[in-house]
Amino acid sequence: MNAALQTTTWPPSVPSDARGRPLRDLRLSVIEACNFRCGYCMPADQVADDYGLDAASRMSFDEIETLVRGFARLGVGKLRLTGGEPLLRKRLPELVARLAAIPGIDDLALTTNGSLLAAQAGALHRAGLRRLTVSLDALDAVLFRRMSGGRGEVAAVLEGIEAATRAGFASLKINCVVQRGINEDQVMPLLERFRGSGHVLRFIEYMDVGNCNGWKREQVVTSRELRDRIAARWPLRPLDPNYRGEVATRYRFEDGAGEVGFVSSISETFCGDCHRARVSADGRLYTCLFASEGTNLRDALAHGEEALVERVAGLWSRRTDRYSELRGEREAAKGRHVEMFLIGG
Ligand code: GTP
Ligand code: 5AD
Ligand code: SF4
Ligand code: SF4
Repeated sequence: MNAALQTTTWPPSVPSDARGRPLRDLRLSVIEACNFRCGYCMPADQVADDYGLDAASRMSFDEIETLVRGFARLGVGKLRLTGGEPLLRKRLPELVARLAAIPGIDDLALTTNGSLLAAQAGALHRAGLRRLTVSLDALDAVLFRRMSGGRGEVAAVLEGIEAATRAGFASLKINCVVQRGINEDQVMPLLERFRGSGHVLRFIEYMDVGNCNGWKREQVVTSRELRDRIAARWPLRPLDPNYRGEVATRYRFEDGAGEVGFVSSISETFCGDCHRARVSADGRLYTCLFASEGTNLRDALAHGEEALVERVAGLWSRRTDRYSELRGEREAAKGRHVEMFLIGG
């Protein structure tokens, strides 16, 4: 057995990384392609229209199942499927059913832009998916279209949200990336629409992920600023995290209209509790959202689950990433980072 598998603290026989963080959470991209071109992720002038549509380099369902079984043995209980846009992957419900059946995977979630959700929500729920996160940056139809790179219709996303609710997804998470001067004015309308709906809106600070979005700190609207603005209209009370290392900080509306979350990876970093690994659709492991390189897992995967487990245990045990905490120091010398659409956020 690899030494890394024996040198662990929590839970027994599972590796912690070099900073004592166990591996609990896997975010797995099932496709690199997306039908949107959001400026903060995959700008239309930087990424070709047909990007990621070539299926040849993707892991097969068999490879993905073996990979997830291996990660489950290493302590992963929480699996999130991402893209690009995961609903573009053919026969996705079939994959979901296979992954939902893996022992140890007790939380299976998916992040989508919602544009194709109306047609697929029922099949995904029947396949065993129980948690959905939908990205929604604007309610205004013209702005939404512009923010999706001229590709998306907000009406389709709202229809997708309705269809998911009818299909049995009790409470969705709705993610809004807020950019100064672009969609700040959508925050209140989004709250008006979703407060009291049972769905949970989360506002995300615009991040310097990848190299193609031209990020500037002035475009970040901090969670504190938003929280103050929201609380002035609807008083808020802090809530405890649902679990250790939860990315969003949660608040409830004092009037009982549910909760709202804030993801503050620029202003209040959370690397200390980061238990997340990311794997791209072509089978590369990224141990940080801001990693410059991934490590190919497919050679190990070709030798089966055991080889995969050994490989990942070794890599995880050497992990030191904490990019967000170091961002200030490194800002002047910004290096190369993996693009968000390859690892799904
Ligand atoms: P839950 O399981 O529902 O708590 O989901 P989550 O909040 O972990 O996942 P989600 O995909 O909704 O994450 C929200 C956003 O937070 C992502 O789209 C990213 O923008 C950001 N995010 C998630 N994980 C990380 C992380 O490890 N580091 C940083 N810097 N940002 C992250
Ligand atoms: N900053 C913050 N979040 C981002 N996402 C993509 N790009 C960025 C960025 N630059 C996140 C959004 C989206 C998810 C798929 O990825 O939350 O909903
Ligand atoms: Fe596509 Fe999501 Fe990236 Fe937008 S944020 S371009 S919907 S992967
Ligand atoms: Fe984890 Fe990297 Fe995000 Fe820090 S910056 S929370 S280490 S993914």
